[in-house]
Amino acid sequence: MTETATSEVEWTTTRSGVGDTDFRELMNVFPSGVTVVTTQDPDGTPHGLTCTSMCSVSLRPPILLACLHNHSQTLASVLRQGTFAVNLLHAGGRRAAEVFASAVRDRFAAVHWDRTPRRGLPWLTSDAHAVAECDVVEATVAGDHVVVFGQVDGVLTRPQNPLMYGLRSYAAWTGA
Ligand SMILES: Cc1cc2nc3c(=O)[nH]c(=O)nc-3n(C[C@H](O)[C@H](O)[C@H](O)COP(=O)(O)O)c2cc1C
Repeated sequence: MTETATSEVEWTTTRSGVGDTDFRELMNVFPSGVTVVTTQDPDGTPHGLTCTSMCSVSLRPPILLACLHNHSQTLASVLRQGTFAVNLLHAGGRRAAEVFASAVRDRFAAVHWDRTPRRGLPWLTSDAHAVAECDVVEATVAGDHVVVFGQVDGVLTRPQNPLMYGLRSYAAWTGA
């Protein structure tokens, strides 16, 4: 897609209310990084889902948020456990993103994973380029999702190109 002078581009407006399609269209044109939010049950059973609705909230203390669907099995485990990890996927992690958004019964069997150093949470050792270990400090229902606020207690990073999602497809961040 090439840039066009603003005056030459037609606007589309919603007429009466905003339906699912309108809202999806809006968010589709807002590319973001791709994460897998992971946690575990008290018996150590890992859970995780692909999540793009993650963002920074506060610097002091360091807090991020993730919006998880209120029927999500991972959400139930996050709220039970009170801790979770956010795995930021690198450009080679597309398959992991697909697996953790799919109906595959054992998602963790399809990836390399280990336990994080501080909280012992499941993390994706091959597909992530950064990982945040978080404690749940607040959770608020918002429509059909729950906004989970996590205070970041540990960070793992390595320099790799992030995976992006937007316009209904995955892409590698090509950078400036
Ligand atoms: C690119 C992408 C981004 C997604 N982002 C979110 C998200 O931010 N929150 C969410 O609840 N589900 C999101 N999903 C959907 C979940 O990954 C999917 O529904 C998953 O199967 C839920 O798993 P669970 O019920 O085991 O937790 C996303 C899916 C894709 C493909």
